[in-house]
Amino acid sequence: MKSLALVIFGITSNLAQIKLIPVLYDMAEKDLLPENISVIGIARREMSKDEFQKYFHEVLNTENIHHKHPIKEDVFRKLCRRINYLSGNIDDPNFYPKLKEFLGNSNNRIYYLATYPELYHHIFENLQKNQMNKSPKGWVRLMIEKPIGNDLKSAQNLNQLLLNYFNEDQIYRLDHYLGKETLQNILTFRFANDIFEPLINKDYIDHIQITASEDFGIGRRGGYYDQVGALKDVGQNHQLQMLAFATMNAPSQFTNKAITHERIQILKNLIPLPDKVVYGQYEGYTKEKNVNPDSRTDTFYALKTYIESERFEDVPIYIRAGKKLKQTATEISIVFKKPVNKLFKKMPESSDEPNILIYRIQPNEGIVFKILTKIPGHKIMLEPEYMQYCYRLDPHTHYIPDPYERLIVDTINGDQTFFNDAREIEAQWTFIDPLFAEREKPRIYKVGSWGPKEADELLEADGRSWLEPSTEFCRI
Ligand SMILES: NC(=O)c1ccc[n+]([C@@H]2O[C@H](COP(=O)([O-])OP(=O)(O)OC[C@H]3O[C@@H](n4cnc5c(N)ncnc54)[C@H](OP(=O)(O)O)[C@@H]3O)[C@@H](O)[C@H]2O)c1
Repeated sequence: MKSLALVIFGITSNLAQIKLIPVLYDMAEKDLLPENISVIGIARREMSKDEFQKYFHEVLNTENIHHKHPIKEDVFRKLCRRINYLSGNIDDPNFYPKLKEFLGNSNNRIYYLATYPELYHHIFENLQKNQMNKSPKGWVRLMIEKPIGNDLKSAQNLNQLLLNYFNEDQIYRLDHYLGKETLQNILTFRFANDIFEPLINKDYIDHIQITASEDFGIGRRGGYYDQVGALKDVGQNHQLQMLAFATMNAPSQFTNKAITHERIQILKNLIPLPDKVVYGQYEGYTKEKNVNPDSRTDTFYALKTYIESERFEDVPIYIRAGKKLKQTATEISIVFKKPVNKLFKKMPESSDEPNILIYRIQPNEGIVFKILTKIPGHKIMLEPEYMQYCYRLDPHTHYIPDPYERLIVDTINGDQTFFNDAREIEAQWTFIDPLFAEREKPRIYKVGSWGPKEADELLEADGRSWLEPSTEFCRI
């Protein structure tokens, strides 16, 4: 069996602490770590092997939202047999021969970049200089986090830089939303069940809404967030991917090439409407730690767009995301046209509520149909109810892998289906850039609200309103 080295540049990073280290533990617990894997963490500080293991132990036992279950000491010891540490400066060319020696003759290698983008070029150049960007007896893969650039130009530059040192099939660009079970299941729901797909078009759909709301603020991420804002932090990547999954055409095969091709078709055909974007900022944001007191960064945005295609012609798509809003929820709602059936027209008002297909990404994960049903009893009265498929209620699907776990396993297996390719990222920025170029000063909104009133007016102008994410379905 070939040996595998997983090299994590930035093992002391926030990302490593909240995601990668907990996921490595989970993989050890579930026997998902290949027999022959060796994990090599890199950062500047000096740490002995014992100190490194202690660091892992501390991270795993720190209370944080991503890793709630208790650590089993026997699993931890199993993990310890796999982990090693090498201290060094990533921008120092003298570090790389040491790394090469440390890696010995491992056949396969994954380099995970959990460090600052400004350091990437040092890593690429030096890996190449030391013939470490390929392996004669195996493969080399690179895992790189979002953001890929800050606009189209910088994304193109980074993609070009990557391609100077690696082939596209070596590059695994992560958007962890693509690793979410609930997002991946949209493809199965749509393309394994023939009955729904004929309805997903302009003849039946009134409009589509995508919401990613959080009831908390930026926490300690002020320095990063203030440079980016809501539209670029989650809109450019996670939410456009959600839209692509919900609207893409059926791929010809269930392969990376075919699925990525269809996602790109959606992203390339999105119509930017700069005058249909509302930016917001929560009250008190400029007093947050590491935020510019005069900041005009958006902590909320809402936009309207269309997909230029025959299938979705004139179907409006409304997308919003924000922090310190009323509720935490991420979902896609496909709102169907109101029923034309006159049979129940004389019933109470609720009888002409539209059907809604909801893909709930979090919380209360599930796929849900809002339908009209008869209230049990002697009279014919209708009420909306949910037909639901819920992940957490079904014992067979109870285990939902962390997206990072899934994406690391996919990288080990060489499956790029749920990673972004260069063209996909560039299509996303091509849509976002014109929206951002004409960005207005954000409207201040109250903490615990649904954002500025202008976001409501965006839909009211079309005779519609935002759907409040329901807490009624898939409750445990
Ligand atoms: N944090 C998140 O929630 C999150 C989410 C999505 C994506 N990302 C992406 O993940 C990456 C890491 O972000 P982060 O916020 O987690 O970073 P971070 O906490 O600031 O950590 C940076 C890491 O790089 C190491 N480092 C910095 N300069 C170095 C040098 N010259 N030589 C060796 N090591 C060096 C640091 O180690 P020492 O200082 O100990 O040397 C540390 O381990 C970024 O690309 C970010 O965009 C992060």
